[in-house]
Amino acid sequence: MADIRKRKVALVTGAGSGIGRATAIAFARAGYTVVLADVGIAAGHAVLDEIKAAGAQAIFIRCDVTDPVDVADMVEQVVTQYGRLDAAFNNAGIEGDSVSTGECSQENWERVLAVNLTGVWLCIRNEVRQMLKQDSGGAIVNCASVAGLTGIAAMPAYVASKHGVVGLTKVAALDYAKDRIRVNAVCPGAIITPMLERVMGDGEEGKQSILANEPVGRLGTPPEIAETVLWLCGEGASFITGQAIAVDGGWTAR
Ligand code: NAI
Repeated sequence: MADIRKRKVALVTGAGSGIGRATAIAFARAGYTVVLADVGIAAGHAVLDEIKAAGAQAIFIRCDVTDPVDVADMVEQVVTQYGRLDAAFNNAGIEGDSVSTGECSQENWERVLAVNLTGVWLCIRNEVRQMLKQDSGGAIVNCASVAGLTGIAAMPAYVASKHGVVGLTKVAALDYAKDRIRVNAVCPGAIITPMLERVMGDGEEGKQSILANEPVGRLGTPPEIAETVLWLCGEGASFITGQAIAVDGGWTAR
């Protein structure tokens, strides 16, 4: 137990799939104790098993990030189990419907904002409350998107939510800069995950139209986002806070 308590503790939401899964694995490989959180229990446990089989210390907590009680319980469980929280990747998100602004239903709007923006705020709120109690501060990375930096047609709720995440990241960074809590956002481009597969659809057409707009001529992979998140949480990024960093193969450079 003494050795476990010396290790840094990282929390990843949406850890059951895609970018969250890859980042949880990367934290574990880097020697962190990892807390995986997801609304999907089976998927979360599958990633947990994978991480534990590789010899790392990890637990899974079922959490719906839209639920304030779930989120408070999640951070409380982290502290009960490991005594501290050093790094958090607020990654859980949904794509919502692909519809023009006028066709977007209120239900879709509210659901996407609830998960992607309110969920991130609830997580930050509980994470900083814990980090403020520690003498070593902490590092928080929020998962925004290139959709947090520029508009994408037919994704009004998603784009609004991700722009919100970028703004919230800047405010939280300023609020806690003197407390040694750094808050940054990562803005992935098109990354091969179950979410992107859903957005692209079954045929080749969707994939080709996304590829046609990729300056580097390929899609990104979840470990490429994980590497950036790990770096932002580490000492190498000690003077970086309040930034939204695109990891997009040049997509926003055009
Ligand atoms: P994914 O769909 O593969 O994984 C998302 C995970 O979040 C799932 O395990 C899901 O169960 C979980 N989740 C959804 N709602 C939740 C809730 N209310 N509470 C807790 N967990 C919940 O998606 P992917 O691609 O890995 O996306 C992760 C993040 O990256 C999202 O925030 C997404 O918006 C962002 N992103 C993804 C891009 C891509 O091309 N894949 C591009 C830019 C941003």
